[in-house]
Amino acid sequence: MAVDTFTTYLTEKTAYIEDRLISALEQEGVPSALYESMKYSLMAGGKRLRPMLVLAVLEALDKPIERGVPFAVALEMIHTYSLIHDDLPAMDDDDLRRGKPTNHKVFGEATAILAGDALLTRAFSLIAESYMGRTDVPAATTVKLIAELGRRAGARGMVGGQMADIEGEMKRLELPQLEFIHEHKTGDLLIAALRGGGYLAEASEKQMEMLTRYGYCIGLAFQIQDDILNVEGDAAELGKAVGSDAQRQKATYPSILGLEQSKERLAALIAEAKAALADAGLEHSALGPLADYVRDRKK
Ligand code: IPE
Ligand code: IPE
Ligand code: MG
Ligand code: MG
Repeated sequence: MAVDTFTTYLTEKTAYIEDRLISALEQEGVPSALYESMKYSLMAGGKRLRPMLVLAVLEALDKPIERGVPFAVALEMIHTYSLIHDDLPAMDDDDLRRGKPTNHKVFGEATAILAGDALLTRAFSLIAESYMGRTDVPAATTVKLIAELGRRAGARGMVGGQMADIEGEMKRLELPQLEFIHEHKTGDLLIAALRGGGYLAEASEKQMEMLTRYGYCIGLAFQIQDDILNVEGDAAELGKAVGSDAQRQKATYPSILGLEQSKERLAALIAEAKAALADAGLEHSALGPLADYVRDRKK
């Protein structure tokens, strides 16, 4: 895919996803302050990478992308909840996210916590309700999606990674401990996007394995680039603070390996992700340029 074609692809898919995000939020009986707080963070922008990966897997396997919408939206809700909570004073205490004041800065901590809770629970009810009774998605697939998301978002997944990340603050970590943090706090939701897409697209076992491998590699790569951008990125472009990892004495790739070696590791992981795609026979899909995008992103 040519670079300008891929840029158009990203723009189109972002608009498609954002349309569906906003409609999934509309529910009767939600207290208005809670609704406003949920909507504020969900619609604040963001790259929409996780939903995009779900749709890209469906496309790669010649299935209608519409089939992936509820799962894609649910993932973005969980991702957004994780960011709201991550920014809280008790966690990273950040003031800026997606180029705007963080949720608790606008709505207060109590509402921000509840908005996160509500996005997390809505994600699961959305999947269950949206796929119920559909002929193109068997009930067994829906159960697999819920199990995958629960596992990857939970204590063995993203939340576990966040815990390890916090425990690792102000400590000297070795590379394996840092990889554990990255794999879980960031990688697991990306892996869930790929595996969920795989289930929905009826991927073969071999393809599931390779999609998982691809997800693991881009997940680690994604967080390495996040760490690099925290050192040499531009706050205005990033839409969040830079320099905060060093300030908090967080163990990161650049702090352990240095910038140059971090970049080498990043490049190697993207190459490995692409090799996994080729093994799955999916190298001509948008998943290829999406891997480059993880490496080259500036925000
Ligand atoms: C930021 O994720 C948090 C991490 C897991 C590193 P993204 O960089 O995907 O954030 P948005 O969705 O684009 O704002
Ligand atoms: C965020 O990690 C990961 C999750 C929210 C799960 P970081 O704290 O490193 O990411 P940013 O820099 O705040 O986006
Ligand atoms: Mg954090
Ligand atoms: Mg943070």
